[in-house]
Amino acid sequence: MQIAIDGPAGAGKSTIAKKIAEAYGIIYLDTGAMYRCIAHCVLMQGDNFKESEKIIKLAEKAVITFEGDQVFCNGMDVTEAIRTPLVSLHTSDVACIKEVRELLVAQQQKIAFDQSVIMDGRDIGSVVLSQADYKFFLDADVTERALRRKKELDAKGIEKSLESIKQEIEKRDENDRNRAESPLIQVADAIVIDTTGKSIEEVCNVIKNHISGVWV
Ligand code: DC
Repeated sequence: MQIAIDGPAGAGKSTIAKKIAEAYGIIYLDTGAMYRCIAHCVLMQGDNFKESEKIIKLAEKAVITFEGDQVFCNGMDVTEAIRTPLVSLHTSDVACIKEVRELLVAQQQKIAFDQSVIMDGRDIGSVVLSQADYKFFLDADVTERALRRKKELDAKGIEKSLESIKQEIEKRDENDRNRAESPLIQVADAIVIDTTGKSIEEVCNVIKNHISGVWV
């Protein structure tokens, strides 16, 4: 069974996908974390985000693994490091490189080959799992998405104004929707869920109602 969850930043994709994975005992793959790992590698090397060739080489060598909620890149626990505003900002620079996407998509498809998965990202329903059994597109009002990010950052002690978070989200959305390679799109067979004003439980229930009957 394959479930694809796409949508813009802060729409609630990863929180919801994790819950659905737990509920049905299937693998959850956070594909955004993989792109974040590459951006983190570039920052660690002190490389420039305009040097695509160097970034592709880093992506070729990067070994990304997941253990529960932890993310490892080349043996290093990068769970927290890949969530900083700087990494968020630069991840769209690596995510627009065709070769980087091909490398990561191949790894994602390999994971989904022989086991049930739920993946979240931007190109899951359109590219990675284009034959997924269920495709969901989660969206939410940009102010609410910025508020959710602010809460996450506040909890980590990272201070940022709501307005600057909102501007960053809008910039990332624009990059993700307008890039040439696998832009964020709402595929025709995706079920659209507006998560604005909805609790995590409410969104999970909407999803479960769509897939119930298969996993009862
Ligand atoms: O979901 P996220 O915020 O962790 O994603 C980080 C960035 O990676 C975001 O700018 C979009 C990009 N991304 C992508 O291009 N394709 C994916 N499948 C997942 C994320």
